[in-house]
Amino acid sequence: MLNEFLWVVSPYLVLASFIVGHIFRYRYDQFSVTAKSSEFIEKKQLMVGSMLFHIGIIFVVGGHFVGLIIPESWTNAVGISEHMYHLVAVLVGSVFGIMAFIGMFLLTFRRLGNRNVRRLSSATDIIVNLTLVLTLILGILSTLLTDHMHPGFNYRENIAVWFRQIFLLHPDMNLMTNVPLLFKLHIISAFIIFALFPYTRLVHAWSVPLGYVKRSYIVTRI
Ligand code: HEM
Repeated sequence: MLNEFLWVVSPYLVLASFIVGHIFRYRYDQFSVTAKSSEFIEKKQLMVGSMLFHIGIIFVVGGHFVGLIIPESWTNAVGISEHMYHLVAVLVGSVFGIMAFIGMFLLTFRRLGNRNVRRLSSATDIIVNLTLVLTLILGILSTLLTDHMHPGFNYRENIAVWFRQIFLLHPDMNLMTNVPLLFKLHIISAFIIFALFPYTRLVHAWSVPLGYVKRSYIVTRI
């Protein structure tokens, strides 16, 4: 029952919350989409933490895309062996994962440690930060400890297949049954992030100013 709930039912509850929440927020609360900057209260820690987290997380997301969406047979077909793939994934993933973790740790330390920043924070701001720290720690530990604790475990044969099946509407919970606990906890905490995403400041990710790169200069005459 628990397995069925975690690996078959809950992904769709999370997806429903993610999609409906975004539609609802866009329709009824569009002007609250903001990162709620606290730069005017404290700048130094914010700069370092934010830089480390954002650069790290971009590569972590890219790594997840390759690892979870692209089937192992495709990378094999272009001549990338499992050993080679795993080596690069662990190396690059750990560097950027640890970078994102240090950044989010600093941001959370600042949010809770600086009295004025704490006062400006809502409960969801704090929950989001703590869930991100937890997800990052669990992801890094899964990556670094699996080779020692579960030699031969290859997440692309089970987690990645199950993950793609979610979007094909037939996730097989048996693929997840023998997955190491750290990975399971990592995925559950990631689910919490995605379920909360539309109701928190994380929505600011959708307003990344990509148009800024190709917009024309603004001429200001005084
Ligand atoms: C349902 C969504 C997710 C799944 C199925 C998932 C799955 C995985 C898997 C299989 C690995 C091991 C990769 C390897 O050993 O090469 C991993 C590592 C990792 N995950 Fe996730 N993950 C999810 C969401 C997230 C989220 C939202 C974050 C960030 C907040 C995150 C952060 C990390 C980090 C930092 C690592 C360490 C390696 C790296 O940097 O890529 N994951 N995850």
